[in-house]
Amino acid sequence: MNAFSFYNPVKLIFGKEQLQAVKKELPQYGKKVLVVYGGGSIKKNGLYDEVITTLKEAGLEIFELAGVEPNPRISTARKGIEICKKEGIDMLLAVGGGSVIDCTKLIAVGAKYDGDAWDFVSRKAQPKDGLPFGTVLTLAATGSEMNAGSVITNEETQEKYGWGSPFSFPKFSILDPTYTLTVPKDHTIYGVVDMMSHIFEQYFHNATNTPVQDRMCEGVLKAVIETAPKLMEDLQSYEHRETILFAGTMGLNNFLQMGYNGDWATHNIEHAVSAVYDIPHAGGLAVLFPQWMRHNVKVNPARFAQMAVRVFDVDSAGKSEEEVAYEGIDRLSAFWTSLGAPTSLEYYDIDDEKIDLMVEKAMVYGEFGNFNKLKDEDVKAILQASL
Ligand code: NZQ
Ligand code: ZN
Repeated sequence: MNAFSFYNPVKLIFGKEQLQAVKKELPQYGKKVLVVYGGGSIKKNGLYDEVITTLKEAGLEIFELAGVEPNPRISTARKGIEICKKEGIDMLLAVGGGSVIDCTKLIAVGAKYDGDAWDFVSRKAQPKDGLPFGTVLTLAATGSEMNAGSVITNEETQEKYGWGSPFSFPKFSILDPTYTLTVPKDHTIYGVVDMMSHIFEQYFHNATNTPVQDRMCEGVLKAVIETAPKLMEDLQSYEHRETILFAGTMGLNNFLQMGYNGDWATHNIEHAVSAVYDIPHAGGLAVLFPQWMRHNVKVNPARFAQMAVRVFDVDSAGKSEEEVAYEGIDRLSAFWTSLGAPTSLEYYDIDDEKIDLMVEKAMVYGEFGNFNKLKDEDVKAILQASL
């Protein structure tokens, strides 16, 4: 393990009928709350009404920002920031999936900044302050509800980057599995792929002596692999939604990343793909991750073989480490395919026309990846194999 310090101040409020907690949590920050939400799913499933009623009961003055897009845009965050500054908003409440939460994070810090919030995303400036905010999560996937990360798209320049700061941790997050019952099948699949990908990003690192972390990663992956197929058969199962929701949060709240830096190259490549093509984040990951793995097996075959045996139950008898490693990757691909995830970027009509542009966008900060540093020819090879 490397030396590390761990900090996660998010208060997690998990379970049925926990929305009432906003009445206790929010008023301590003031009176005026900006409720941020997406394209309408919360109006269809009744959560919007429940949230507004609860906020009224708490005696809060309510403002709204609707229409946050999947792959949230800087233009929408700017609208939210304008509302905050004009109305003197005290705190925010994100009600939605990762996109809504990520957008809220940027609004929170942008509201306390005189310049343009894109400065934070493009790393031109660091937030020095932020409005407090809470979240009501409706989709199990990103882990954004319990981390400080946020991923924002600049639709004009076709850029999509992750950023984070100490001011972008939610003060609290309410996770009621009931609110995820209406997530359609495709986004349920994407959520599973995303949370598993987060764990793989962390599993592939260069530190030594991490048996506790390895087993934690493998344990969460195993639980997801056991549960996801059952959830696909019964999207209304509270029990399976509960497992997947908790797994998504544990996948990216940094508990699994103590003592090392994860790789995170595949996420970087995916962000370049969805910056250019605006595809669902985990649709890209489902295709790219097995290809990243195949490209990197030789860096540390033992690590891949360990994953194959412990997570995918590959029988290693009489096989070389590399053979076991490749079999594990094939099983991962087969598992995601069995759920209904795409296997090629062709699924999104992506061909090689803009491959150099995607490489350029991925390489904007130079070589990347902590398990193995990727150069532009590596990124191009991974993308080419994904077409
Ligand atoms: O917009 P609405 O109408 O709410 O519909 C959403 C959206 O169309 C719908 N949805 C959400 N909850 C629902 C629901 N539909 C029915 N019932 C519900 N309960 O699902 C669609 C997708 O929502 P979105 O928030 O975009 O999905 P997700 O949570 O997967 O977030 C994806 C975004 O998060 C970023 C991705 O890059 C992408 O922009 N990421 C953020 C991370 C972080 N902050 O830590 C890490 C991730 O790796 C990821 O990069
Ligand atoms: Zn992700």
